[in-house]
Amino acid sequence: MIVLGINDGHDAGACLLRDGKLLLYSAEERRRNIKNYAGVPTESLAALFARTGVSPKDVDLVALSSRIRTTFPTRGKKKIYTVMNAMSFMARSQWATNAGRWVLSRMRKRKELLECLSGYGIADKPLLACDHHETHAATAFYHRPWDGPATILTMDGAGDGLCATVSIGTGFEMKRLAATPKYHSVAAGLYSGITAYLGLKPYEHEYKVMGMAPYGQAEHCIDLLRPLFSVNGLTFRNHTGYTGTGTAIRHYLHKLLEGQRFDNVSAACQQAFEEMMVQWTQNAIAATGVRKVVAAGGAFLNVKANKLIRELPVVEALYVYPCSDDGGTPIGAAILGYLRLCQQTGTEPTLDLPKDMYLGLDHTEQEMEAAIQASGFPYRRMAHPADEVGGLIASGQIVARFDGREEAGPRALGNRSILADPRDLRYIRKLNFAIKQRDFWMPFAASVLEEDQHTYIVNPSKWAFYMIEAFETTPEGADKLVAGTHPFDRTIRPQVVNDMNPGYRDIIRAFKARTGVGGVLNTSFNLHGFPVVGSPKVALDTLTKSELDAVALGPFLVTKG
Ligand SMILES: [Fe+2]
Repeated sequence: MIVLGINDGHDAGACLLRDGKLLLYSAEERRRNIKNYAGVPTESLAALFARTGVSPKDVDLVALSSRIRTTFPTRGKKKIYTVMNAMSFMARSQWATNAGRWVLSRMRKRKELLECLSGYGIADKPLLACDHHETHAATAFYHRPWDGPATILTMDGAGDGLCATVSIGTGFEMKRLAATPKYHSVAAGLYSGITAYLGLKPYEHEYKVMGMAPYGQAEHCIDLLRPLFSVNGLTFRNHTGYTGTGTAIRHYLHKLLEGQRFDNVSAACQQAFEEMMVQWTQNAIAATGVRKVVAAGGAFLNVKANKLIRELPVVEALYVYPCSDDGGTPIGAAILGYLRLCQQTGTEPTLDLPKDMYLGLDHTEQEMEAAIQASGFPYRRMAHPADEVGGLIASGQIVARFDGREEAGPRALGNRSILADPRDLRYIRKLNFAIKQRDFWMPFAASVLEEDQHTYIVNPSKWAFYMIEAFETTPEGADKLVAGTHPFDRTIRPQVVNDMNPGYRDIIRAFKARTGVGGVLNTSFNLHGFPVVGSPKVALDTLTKSELDAVALGPFLVTKG
């Protein structure tokens, strides 16, 4: 049974699942080098078929990650989406939302998608359009690192007319208990609204508000933000009279927050959001009676809120799916599609899903060497790559690593990463201004050897492999990993590294052998405003356009000479 999972909305992508096993995933932004690409993932489909050897005619089902598409395609006509957004403003109640979901899902033409599928001769294959939040839920629930039941939370700006759901999952079944209509979206109206109000890009730069929050003092304006949204049992309520992140809510926030400082506004936004997430989680556990929680959806990229949820006494365990944004939804759709096929054919499902996030493309040595030769950069084959790269970082060089399969999700976990010595804050200046052109207040993250995690992290969880949760650092962590922690509160968003990625683990071990420190600074390998590099050519272009010292491209070390 082969299922092709597709997300043709925001953070488009596709994957192939064969008999419950994920073969390959591709994010369209990496194929096109356009961040957060929205639209039919044609380049990803081409890569999936070319690299897995799966013949399109063998696909049994195409599973889509939404019923209605509510995001603007990166390229294409936008009129219909404006109509849909206007309709969502009217849908404040559950029944109106359900009616809108029914009507809009039937209005959806999918012309571009069907054209693309017909190019592979598979336009007539069965097509399952999944509920967007159910795909988020499926990614979190079916990847959970335990066998028993789970309380399932999903939350994002909006998807298929909803913004948050609570479900209970047991075995191969998920039962939805509650859903919040898009109109009441806390993530969009409060968090993305504040993001836009602060002059940042909504639905993309929310992490910058989270990064600013520790610098401010929430008490200056928390009382202004708290009344805007509330938790009502398992759902949220919007009391502003506005929705989305458009001009109306920006004017509203401008009037409300006049004279308030940007850092205090960020802090209050984060705190109001955290308070609601915590309350909502507690209510959900009370309703399901299940204290193990799984979560997905763009709102769960908020690592600080995740930290508070994890620390709640009522929460026995928290697993947040690392590819929590819409990039993960084709995987959720493919899982749901596979389970549907099993049900139809009376087959016992056997899901064999990966524990790691190295789900994307890899490149052969020949492809890498050809790209290097075309670039004209000097290079050499390393005799001992891990030792040499670890040594370069220890000697103060900033090295990008491009090796193995690319990571799914927004975090680079060592295979498409820029690596630096975490002990010295001077590297942050070089990284910020000469390489990443990042905002001055934003923290970097660190990768920490599993055997050393307790040295640097306070109470690390069992699943801190993906940079999706924040933790307090120990005094030694705050000192030795200083450049990989938040500059103000010294919290850390770590990647604990073990034999999931032996090549990367050995680099950190080589760094430790020279410095005594079992961690390195790890930031994604990209230029500001671009997605994580998706090919050897883009990796080498990035070397050209930045002050990187070297790129470790597979077994080759490429320098500027
Ligand atoms: Fe979503």
